[in-house]
Amino acid sequence: MRAATVVPGRPELADVTDLAEPVAAPGELLVDGLLVGACGTDVEIVKEGFGELPPGRDRMVLFHESLGRVRSAPAGSGFVAGDLVAGVVRRPDPEPCAACAADQWDFCRNGRYTERGIKELDGYGAQRWTIEPKYAIRIDPALGELGVLTEPASTVAKAWEQAELVGRRGYFAPRTALVTGAGSMGLLAALFGVQRGLAVHVLDRVSTGPKPDLVRMLGASYHQDLDTVPEPDVVIECTGAASLVFDLLRRTARNSVTVLIGLSGSTANLPVPAGVINDRTVLANNAVVGCVNGSLANYRQGSQALAAADPRWLRQLITRRVPLADWPDSLRREPDDVKVVVDLT
Ligand code: BGC
Repeated sequence: MRAATVVPGRPELADVTDLAEPVAAPGELLVDGLLVGACGTDVEIVKEGFGELPPGRDRMVLFHESLGRVRSAPAGSGFVAGDLVAGVVRRPDPEPCAACAADQWDFCRNGRYTERGIKELDGYGAQRWTIEPKYAIRIDPALGELGVLTEPASTVAKAWEQAELVGRRGYFAPRTALVTGAGSMGLLAALFGVQRGLAVHVLDRVSTGPKPDLVRMLGASYHQDLDTVPEPDVVIECTGAASLVFDLLRRTARNSVTVLIGLSGSTANLPVPAGVINDRTVLANNAVVGCVNGSLANYRQGSQALAAADPRWLRQLITRRVPLADWPDSLRREPDDVKVVVDLT
């Protein structure tokens, strides 16, 4: 079988490799890979050397946003051949820390967790993969190929869960949400906000391409200028653009929660009005929360939110499809890209 393989930080070695067929260990599912989604983390792995090879290996199978069809499942696993599944990315650290031991690997304390396709484990960019049933998320058959959005939806589900958990620390009756960035994460975050009945505002730089229309089709408002956005009660920050992040913190409503899910990937210094931001944060009870990865519950919430969405809208998030043979093309940003997927079949 063929797989998309990489050496972190060596883009010239990104390749399609013939690998031996994987053999399911007792209790595991054997899955035919259908699609994987490409994201910024994959670019960081290939170009910047983010992530880590599995110990003793010289290449790793890339990609962590998956969709596959169960080829064989052991009796009692809860799955049968033909089921659509997405794989969970993170695994608890081997020790494990107290958070991982409680199945909260997304809150791993010691950073020794592993991640499929990112950190020390092969990813899902292969024509066949195996997985323990515990880490396989069942996809509603009606969702079909859109199930490849389950992993990014799980991250967005965690962001909204964090906003709501933190919000409950005191009086919190959110009405207005701001999502920064209209890429796939931002659009999914906007979807979740609309599903919660909030007035959702999405900020991005572009004025052309599919993003403004995708925002409006949701019933949300599209902005290119932060000054035109009403003070938000909840912010889901998906850009990682450092100056925007700090700009936001001065402009949120009282008792607001800002959840940061975008990475900056930059070490540049930035002049910020630190005192103004501090005073605003204190005097307005504002909270800022960093958020990565997702729990099993977040995967389920993500997959339920996708199943409840208008499939015609969701389908438009997948703007490009690349065959496995050309998978490195999936990491090249084209102006109108939202989510690019690789077809493993
Ligand atoms: C993935 C997360 C992962 C994070 C850091 C993201 O792209 O969606 O599952 O935890 O990268 O490795």
